[in-house]
Amino acid sequence: MPYKRTIIITGGAGFIGSHVVRLFVGKYPEYHIINLDKLTYAGNLANLKDIEDKPNYSFIKADICDYETVKRVISENKVDGIIHLAAESHVDRSITDPFVFAKTNVLGTLTLLQAARECWEPDGWEGKRFYHISTDEVYGALELTRPEGDPDGNECGGGPYGEDFFTEENKYQPHSPYSAAKASSDHFVRAYHDTYGMPTIVTNCSNNYGPYQFPEKLIPLFINNIRNRKPLPVYGKGENVRDWLYVEDHARAIDLIFHKGEIAQTYNIGGFNEWKNIDLIKVLIRTTDRLLGRPEGSDDDLITFVTDRKGHDLRYAIDSTKLKTELGWEPSLQFEEGIEKTVRWYLDNQEWLDNVTSGDYQNYYSEMYGNR
Ligand code: NAD
Ligand code: TYD
Repeated sequence: MPYKRTIIITGGAGFIGSHVVRLFVGKYPEYHIINLDKLTYAGNLANLKDIEDKPNYSFIKADICDYETVKRVISENKVDGIIHLAAESHVDRSITDPFVFAKTNVLGTLTLLQAARECWEPDGWEGKRFYHISTDEVYGALELTRPEGDPDGNECGGGPYGEDFFTEENKYQPHSPYSAAKASSDHFVRAYHDTYGMPTIVTNCSNNYGPYQFPEKLIPLFINNIRNRKPLPVYGKGENVRDWLYVEDHARAIDLIFHKGEIAQTYNIGGFNEWKNIDLIKVLIRTTDRLLGRPEGSDDDLITFVTDRKGHDLRYAIDSTKLKTELGWEPSLQFEEGIEKTVRWYLDNQEWLDNVTSGDYQNYYSEMYGNR
């Protein structure tokens, strides 16, 4: 029986991509899901072990910058939807090596857009969709006008750490090479809609957390370090604020928006869940110690304040009212529950951590931070 749709998910072997692939493969047996991924240090097929044998799932190892291959995959499989997550995604790496970010995030996205256009435009755009996954970091940084944190912030206007949020109307003001490259790719996606009429959608999501996140990002890195009683390198004074969303809630939003979102629109995705880094780190220590049966407070001294990240954005906070009002999406998990699930997952999956942190990552980490 022919499939109802064929969708490429780029970056499907990465953190968020693997959750999106898993959701689509399981929920839509009538769709053929093609995971197209280059398998950089951040991509790992171990993230998809549980679904790799499903009949409606295929994996293609390819670089989104490789025009001929991408075009062939779209045309030979009669692909009618692309959900684009492949990217270089770590801010610290973008500070050390910005060029690879421009190549993958900007030129890779442009290559994908052009290949899709070449395949789709001759028969008309009907039934096609190019969905680009972006970040709240393109909007720049917000002020920390409530530095002590107001627990009633969300009720009295704005969030606990400031009066304002990023809305879909905010200007793009990226600061890091990562966010500059993502902003540029977002502009190209919109340009393909405005110029050629390609049916595109862009979403900008806040920081994600959950299983299968590469342990260079704050939450998995710190859980792993606490477990191994290694120092926790807190940038600056730990006062920066991030807005955290459980990754499966992001995947659900992507599913909803892919199917019901309006063409040419932008949707912000976030859970109104701001945390100051240092407070979040204390929750991670408490939760990890409790689950490991260690006495409360026994790992507090792992906190180590280190030189701040260059150009470190002070605060991100996303207003996702549009998504809630127009499409009815809301996060399903409370943060406490999400963190508990996440810590438990990393503690139960030491083999996965060892596997993804062997090789390249060890070299990178010791070059960046010394042997902490
Ligand atoms: P990740 O780094 O975990 O995964 C990226 C994936 O892309 C990997 O599987 C990698 O192999 C693949 N990839 C990289 N370069 C490629 C190339 N040239 N060709 C093909 N595949 C390539 O990233 P993530 O955290 O899962 O983020 C996924 C997307 O979501 C990114 O576009 C990112 O900007 C966006 N995003 C991430 C967050 C977050 O908190 N992680 C928040 C908002 C938006
Ligand atoms: P990160 O997970 O890299 O996400 P992003 O930079 O995209 O927000 O970092 C989250 C926050 O944690 C950010 O403010 C930087 C900070 N941080 C540290 O303090 N120490 C670390 O070792 C890392 C990786 C991040």
